[in-house]
Amino acid sequence: MENNSKYMDLSPKLRKIKAFIFDLDGVLTDTAEYHYLAWKRLAEEEGLSFNRQDNEKLRGISRRASLELILQGKRLSEEKMQELMDRKNGYYREYIKSITKKDLLPGAEELLRELKARGYKLAMASGSKNAPKVVERLGITAYFDVLAHGGSVEKSKPAPDLFLHTAEKLAIKPCSCVVVEDAGAGLDAAKAAGMFTIGIGPPERVGAADLVLPSVAEIKPEALFWHN
Ligand code: BG6
Ligand code: MG
Repeated sequence: MENNSKYMDLSPKLRKIKAFIFDLDGVLTDTAEYHYLAWKRLAEEEGLSFNRQDNEKLRGISRRASLELILQGKRLSEEKMQELMDRKNGYYREYIKSITKKDLLPGAEELLRELKARGYKLAMASGSKNAPKVVERLGITAYFDVLAHGGSVEKSKPAPDLFLHTAEKLAIKPCSCVVVEDAGAGLDAAKAAGMFTIGIGPPERVGAADLVLPSVAEIKPEALFWHN
């Protein structure tokens, strides 16, 4: 019961929940390091400054928006932008080749299994165009009823489009969806879509979420859905 009390005031919202929509990078696996290494390699080749602190600002935002941030206002031709994005993506794809089930964050697969057993619909909604490849390497494709990614909609997070598209594919109303996110841009998108939000990470980063938890291992379905 002690566990349940912290969720009590959320219960009217939680009672409606029928689906869980997961972000990928930073929630189920930690690919931020690979994105960092790929951008760092590109930045060094191009003589641009880029460090781990800068990388934190790229969490959850698209490839193009990331490059624009790294360029700090420097204007390049569309052709050059495309070449830089492709080169970074080539490095990223090289790094993710080594991903296996062992790269799932602690508790991730147990949570997917438990939610599925409880009858919730499960979806992935990642801003990454590489998400289907990563999900496949992690060995968790079969858990998801819908797999939405960076190529599924035009407007990336913080626009609500990817989450709304996912809810439509699931045939579940947005207010009956929980989004699990590690990035501010992702939470903004989920809130704009009218969904319940669980923020994974420190309050400085995900404090805007309805519920803030340090990791997916802390999402306890028996405590969240004790009233269902
Ligand atoms: C998000 C990452 O999941 O995907 C971002 O958090 C990344 O850092 C974005 O820029 C786009 O990924 P990709 O693989 O399509 O370049
Ligand atoms: Mg993320």
